[in-house]
Amino acid sequence: MDREKLPNHIAIVMDGNGRWARSKSLPRLAGHNAGMIALKEIVKRTSSLGVKHLTVYAFSTENWKRPENEVGGIFNLLVHYVERELEELNQNNVKVKIIGDYNKLPKKAVQKIEEALIKTRDNTGLQFNIALNYGSRDEIVRATKLIADKVANNEMKAEDITQSIFKEHLFTSAIPDPDLVIRTSGEKRLSNFLLWQSAYSEFVFTDTLWPDFTPECLEDAIKEYQKRVRRFGGLK
Ligand code: FPP
Repeated sequence: MDREKLPNHIAIVMDGNGRWARSKSLPRLAGHNAGMIALKEIVKRTSSLGVKHLTVYAFSTENWKRPENEVGGIFNLLVHYVERELEELNQNNVKVKIIGDYNKLPKKAVQKIEEALIKTRDNTGLQFNIALNYGSRDEIVRATKLIADKVANNEMKAEDITQSIFKEHLFTSAIPDPDLVIRTSGEKRLSNFLLWQSAYSEFVFTDTLWPDFTPECLEDAIKEYQKRVRRFGGLK
């Protein structure tokens, strides 16, 4: 891996916790728990490599369709994750940010998230963006409404709307587009993740299930990324 050519922003669809659990005859939540442990190691490696942004898809606007006990269990895991890891994240100069409408989560989870946001807000190392109750289509509609309101209130003219103005109204307004998007567990789709932002991202799909995705797997994905030629519609 070439340390001089790291992606500035890595985004990950952490898929396969349920299948990992099933393969071991464990309940699905045991898979999510193992997924959290994997995530902890990925955050550490991303941070120590000096990557600036890591975004993980932790809960989508569509994941509410899952059984109630799984949904509740994922949020409980999140609360415990913050309780256990916040101190270390902070010591490692990691800045936590949330994309998505996290206020719809259970109160305890919202409180823990806000604690993490406040505690780490001045940190200057890795920015760790967690997508929670996030969906790209929802995000795009929300941005459109915000802009339409401004036009209706004469704060802006329709003809002044540009791509960069639109971007400013997305949850990711202050986050650069992902250079590398990884999806684990063999599925090859985005599932409503960063649709606008990944227009020119490089994609790496791996069959590895998320709980088995180690920092070495991350470095393999980065190596794959480093072989790609990015043209952004132009010529090399
Ligand atoms: C998208 O696939 C995948 C996600 C939104 C990630 C889901 C992961 C969790 C809910 C577990 C949380 C993570 C940890 C580490 C505890 P999808 O299954 O929403 O969409 P699909 O039906 O198109 O595959």
